[in-house]
Amino acid sequence: MDDSTVSAQKDMDIEELFLANASSTNGVDEIEEFRRVGRQFNELMMRYSGAIREVKTKLEVLNDEFQIKRSHNPISYIKSRIKKPASIYEKLLRRGYPVSLESIEKNLHDVAGIRVICGYVQDIYTVADMLASQSDIKVLEVKDYIARPKSNGYRSLHLVVSVPVFFSDQCIPMKVEVQIRTIAMDFWATLEHQLKYKSEGPVPEVIAKELKDCSDVIAETDIRMQRLYNSLYQDDKFLLFDADGKNQKNI
Ligand code: GTP
Ligand code: MG
Repeated sequence: MDDSTVSAQKDMDIEELFLANASSTNGVDEIEEFRRVGRQFNELMMRYSGAIREVKTKLEVLNDEFQIKRSHNPISYIKSRIKKPASIYEKLLRRGYPVSLESIEKNLHDVAGIRVICGYVQDIYTVADMLASQSDIKVLEVKDYIARPKSNGYRSLHLVVSVPVFFSDQCIPMKVEVQIRTIAMDFWATLEHQLKYKSEGPVPEVIAKELKDCSDVIAETDIRMQRLYNSLYQDDKFLLFDADGKNQKNI
């Protein structure tokens, strides 16, 4: 899952997007219209790709700073993806939104998606706070599925942010969905997603229960690991080093 997944599938699905709009072309030359929509779709995806890079860079910079100033990196790794055209199309239809480029921007907030995987639960909130407090980032939505896990056991912190992206002649605020979770939460969500996908329909009750139990065990383990970390690095949160690395000072 990375920026390059703007993918071969794109051209194929632009056709679907066009055909869905074709009834409103009212005699305009269809090939020209097809090209126009295709170009605009590519441009929109390019803008989302730029937004992903902006947010990813911010996260990488924060992580680098942490490595120097504190005892560990809050971020283990980052994944990103642009939603595939077929999924964009399917989601617009499923939600009853118009199928148009304007509608994609207005109604979908997860065309650009970043997943941040952290070591400890506390890191999730540290990363979220540091990102949200940057002056050019606007937080549009927060869903805390850690404080309030979904009934199936899903845990993660979701932010939808808007980030300005500069192009040759304009600056456009673009939406990015940022999912932040621990390695353990990611392990669970990945396997749960695979099982759900495999079962082609609702997961059987007995499996759903087993998954929920696993999620609870994992959450408990995350808490124990956090306690372990806190007991080893009690002062970590409060210590910063001078630029020369010699003097520690409390903040
Ligand atoms: P979507 O239509 O799924 O985007 O729902 P939403 O717009 O209401 O957003 P929500 O924040 O609830 O979920 C967004 C994303 O979180 C999903 O696309 C998944 O990537 C992830 N997610 C949410 N719930 C689950 C879950 O139960 N299991 C797994 N594996 N992932 C989930
Ligand atoms: Mg979504």
